[in-house]
Amino acid sequence: MKIPGKILIVDDSEVALKLLSTILEHENYEIRIAKDAFQAFEILTKFKPDIILLDVMMPKMDGYEFTKRIKSLDDLKSIPIILVTALNDQESKIRGLNAGAEEFISKPIDRTELLIRTKNLIKMKKYHDEISNINRFLEETIKKRTEQLNYSYIEAIISLSRIVDNIYEGNSNVSTKLSRCSTFLAAQLKCPENFISTLRYASTIYDIGKTKITTEILYKSTPLNEADWDIIKSHTEHGKNILKAVSSPYLNMGSEIACHHHENFDGTGYPNAIKGSTIPLEARIIKFCDTYIALRSRRPYRDAYTHEKCIDIILKGDNKTKPDHFDPNILSIFKAQHNKFNEIYEEK
Ligand SMILES: [Fe+2]
Repeated sequence: MKIPGKILIVDDSEVALKLLSTILEHENYEIRIAKDAFQAFEILTKFKPDIILLDVMMPKMDGYEFTKRIKSLDDLKSIPIILVTALNDQESKIRGLNAGAEEFISKPIDRTELLIRTKNLIKMKKYHDEISNINRFLEETIKKRTEQLNYSYIEAIISLSRIVDNIYEGNSNVSTKLSRCSTFLAAQLKCPENFISTLRYASTIYDIGKTKITTEILYKSTPLNEADWDIIKSHTEHGKNILKAVSSPYLNMGSEIACHHHENFDGTGYPNAIKGSTIPLEARIIKFCDTYIALRSRRPYRDAYTHEKCIDIILKGDNKTKPDHFDPNILSIFKAQHNKFNEIYEEK
């Protein structure tokens, strides 16, 4: 069965070009010719041959250099190259192979050998193209499915974040503010892009465990007693349990945040009283953002604080909040760029 295919012949000899193209056209191959490497490059981009028949000894750029350049280009390197040469010595063949050529044909041309080698290489190129097309299709399918799955994960998180927002009556944008503050901090900390994009959504469900706390305690207008605080503190473990054991990266990070966003950098927090870098970075970031946003927000037992008052409390401390509770790197960023936090908080 005839194998159709496209062949580019590159040779500075008119006689060689005529001979090769006559033989190959007779076999119904589609042929283009080039008299030097530069002309060949121009033809290549549009013609996209299945193979290149290439003379070695050419002016301007020889066949070895041309082969090296083709094999260094991602969109052209899969095109097989047959070096057509009068050179028949071992050293020239090794040089050609090192440059990336697939085959050799010696001058004077043997018609049968030329047709067999051409046919085999075109067959190989077509198999290669088929495999590349299948791989490309599979990659695109996987990419599309991954995007769909990711979108589903994000949709689930957005629904959960609405539940968290409902906890904070009168401040329904808490999840959005927390997401913006935390991604700003993560970017300033030079966290990897995938960490930041996961944090953007995982941050919004940090207090999901509060759905397990009774409204009687959650909205108590008088100061909480020790027993009330123990119940409130349990929201971290509840949050971890609600979100654990899932494949979604957002919920996995969300689970870490839910569990550890009340740990203090100096080890005085809860639920595990872990300290320093043993606290997951995402939880250290949310710890800070949650504190700032909570101070700015009205509570049943106090009014909202101004931005200036929050700076004072965070940097100097009060009876509840201490600078040692926070990651020093995060504190440094806040000191230098506290206006950004005010800006995010004031955004509608
Ligand atoms: Fe919390």
